[in-house]
Amino acid sequence: MNRNFALEFVRATEAAAIQSARWMGRGDEHAADDAAVEAMRKALNKIEFDGKVVIGEGERDEAPMLYIGERVGTGQGTKLDIALDPLEGTTICARGSNNALAVIAIAESGRFLHAPDTYMEKIAVGPQGKGVVSLDLTPTENLVALAKARSCKVSDLTVIILDRPRHEALIAEVRRSGARIWLIGDGDVSAAIATALPDSGVDILFGTGGAPEGVIAAAALKCIGGDFQGRLKWRNPLEKERAVKMGIQDLNRLYQINDLADGHVMFCATGVTQGTLLNGVRFFAGGCRTHSMVMRSETGTVRFIEAQHSFEHKPQ
Ligand code: FBP
Repeated sequence: MNRNFALEFVRATEAAAIQSARWMGRGDEHAADDAAVEAMRKALNKIEFDGKVVIGEGERDEAPMLYIGERVGTGQGTKLDIALDPLEGTTICARGSNNALAVIAIAESGRFLHAPDTYMEKIAVGPQGKGVVSLDLTPTENLVALAKARSCKVSDLTVIILDRPRHEALIAEVRRSGARIWLIGDGDVSAAIATALPDSGVDILFGTGGAPEGVIAAAALKCIGGDFQGRLKWRNPLEKERAVKMGIQDLNRLYQINDLADGHVMFCATGVTQGTLLNGVRFFAGGCRTHSMVMRSETGTVRFIEAQHSFEHKPQ
């Protein structure tokens, strides 16, 4: 895959972040999301590639833009599959809280799991936890294994978990283990990536969130050398039926990181609101500043890009 793609695609996450950041704290999730979607789509369609959205805004009948199966790019050049979330954390943005991102992951055709719109049980760790944790172990067993791999105590570890009633038993178990917990309102892609960044203060992610977000997080962790596992969690029989029609045979399968994002992948994200990984968009007279990360699994390079945009030269 052409290494320059990563720098091309970051323009699309920047565009989505800038447009949705205008809606920060204004209490309108839909407007924030629509602004991000429109801007990302426009930017993607300027890039010379033959793209297909495999993780996107939803099925064609429920999403007018960036729906699953939509062709993006100029249609010329390399065939690529795209997993995207123009605004990961719509509620975060609408409330002006931390860690809303615009994200895109890219792989060669057929390399991403076409995750159905359901939940996924997830575990994510940084490079030191790679190969030592598993969704087949209990949370306590995972924490003991991670502490051993990192030569620290379980009580030195911080676990990040979505604050949801469904995680009551999980949270109780982690508390009994002695580990510290960081409960977040939304945004488990940013949380999963944080486990692989030494200064984030987060060591491991547990819990159930969106399945499409799981594929995006797996792509990011693959670039950064971390680990991710997922197991689809069905909310109702209809979801199972749809998944079977989509070709998913084993409904209880444990997906390893390469089952979710195989081959060489690229990942870019731009901060919408202020966050653990990235600063949010800052506006000033005549322009704004964005903060993005760009990563490639082939080299493991993680680039942070701070960009200053001039509205005089780029009014759109
Ligand atoms: P949106 O950007 O679609 O609002 O998703 C935010 C998010 O918190 C994800 O990060 C997470 O995977 C999912 O929602 C959790 O779903 P739920 O809010 O139903 O628990």
